[in-house]
Amino acid sequence: MKTIRTTRAMAAWSERLRREGVTIGFVPTMGALHDGHRSLIRTARLRCDALVVSIFVNPSQFSPTEDLSTYPRPITSDRALCREEGVDVCFEPIAQTLYPQGFQTTVTVPALARRWEGAARPHHFTGVATVVTKLFGIVRPHLALFGQKDYQQAVLVRQLAEDLNLGVAIQMRPTVRERDGLAMSSRNIYLDADERRIAPLLSQALRAGQEMIEGGMSNVAAIEQVMRQTIEQAPTIHVEYLAVCDPNSLEPLSVVANRAILLGAVRLGSIRLIDNRPAKIPGRKSRTTQ
Ligand code: PAF
Repeated sequence: MKTIRTTRAMAAWSERLRREGVTIGFVPTMGALHDGHRSLIRTARLRCDALVVSIFVNPSQFSPTEDLSTYPRPITSDRALCREEGVDVCFEPIAQTLYPQGFQTTVTVPALARRWEGAARPHHFTGVATVVTKLFGIVRPHLALFGQKDYQQAVLVRQLAEDLNLGVAIQMRPTVRERDGLAMSSRNIYLDADERRIAPLLSQALRAGQEMIEGGMSNVAAIEQVMRQTIEQAPTIHVEYLAVCDPNSLEPLSVVANRAILLGAVRLGSIRLIDNRPAKIPGRKSRTTQ
């Protein structure tokens, strides 16, 4: 496996392979790789001839009060995981290369970024959209994979790739969970023992909502009430949002006519957890979006 640090070397590597007709798969990450990333890497490995993983803790998607300086950076074990999974290139740019002095262009996807994580973390999605667009421009992948765990991010990236004709197919892969249902995330290591014990309540709440819809319930107020009650079993977990939304626009629904995505965010002490579950009213046909 090669480690590439400069945008010029990365672009040259991709350009050479593209000229030879090689298909390039890409998994953009901020490192602290876990089994969720491993599953994206494995899928990309199977679908493409060559595979690039980027490891870059992108400063522009963190607000000044967030955890940029303490974000986990276990680069040795990250590289080992990439090597184990047959990654060809680990692209590890430094911030000044991606954002040199004078850098001023940003990418926004306003409607998809307006609610949920976008409302809780202003500028977050502009940072994500900008860095992902830059990474696509440098790596020039044919296929890029994103985890469903960050559903809003994946939908937004799919939209920007289409809107800007970036020539990359975006694929969303299912969330990988711990045995108790907690969605894998690089930030789970911040949870102390008590927090870790109650953290699965978020996935349990979303699962309860999913089961209601799959049982035919279309009344969103009733579904949201059950999800909230599930979480509120533990007084130390605070709901930021629990919503039943259209899976494409992410706008909240009041009645589930067909497909929905259930989105949730909670706060446990200083830690925010997000998760989601797709659901579908049984027996209705629709365009598949996930
Ligand atoms: O999901 C992430 O790890 C990041 O938001 C991404 C897509 C790598 C952009 O920095």
